[in-house]
Amino acid sequence: MTPPQKPQHSSPVHAEAEPAPPTRRSFFAVVAAVLAGSLAVLTPIGIGIAAFLSPLFRRTATSEVRVALLEQVPDDGQPRCFPVVADRDDAWTRYPAQRIGAVYLVRRPGEEKPIALTAKCPHAGCFIGYSESDELFKCPCHTSAFNLDGTRVRGDQEVAPRGMDELQVDVRQIAGPEGANVSEIWVRFVEFQTGVKERIPTT
Ligand code: FES
Repeated sequence: MTPPQKPQHSSPVHAEAEPAPPTRRSFFAVVAAVLAGSLAVLTPIGIGIAAFLSPLFRRTATSEVRVALLEQVPDDGQPRCFPVVADRDDAWTRYPAQRIGAVYLVRRPGEEKPIALTAKCPHAGCFIGYSESDELFKCPCHTSAFNLDGTRVRGDQEVAPRGMDELQVDVRQIAGPEGANVSEIWVRFVEFQTGVKERIPTT
């Protein structure tokens, strides 16, 4: 007699594989990919914005400017006034050959290099004149007076809070026509704040 057969179980139906739970490693990979993508997009934008705004932060108050020939300033101690002409940058625009100020050059007897004093009054910015009869610089706005070296005649009694602003001077030799050397006077032009005792560049 054959033994009773065990009932055959039908083969199980394969359930759909469930997605594996996200691991910590895959989480960091996603974060890294998002960061890399953001950087790739934002970096050129940031560079573009910086390039667009950079003129607003550019320093333009200092220029080396040729103001005269040495032969135009004899060493007789008398001041001579010269315009300061240079290109001016105004944010995104450049204006060539603009008058940005004026300087007095004074060359004392026997001296090769003159001193340069800006003609802008340190009190409120008026143009300082020169009185030949008094041999003094005089500001027409509030009567401040300055000696030929730019110091205040009455010291702290003057309205101007400091003496005239002296600029750095350089005498440069260049080859002139017919092989002769020509001496040029260059100044390092700086604008200073008015109305304060200290000499503070404006930008
Ligand atoms: S602006 Fe020169 S004394 Fe006032």
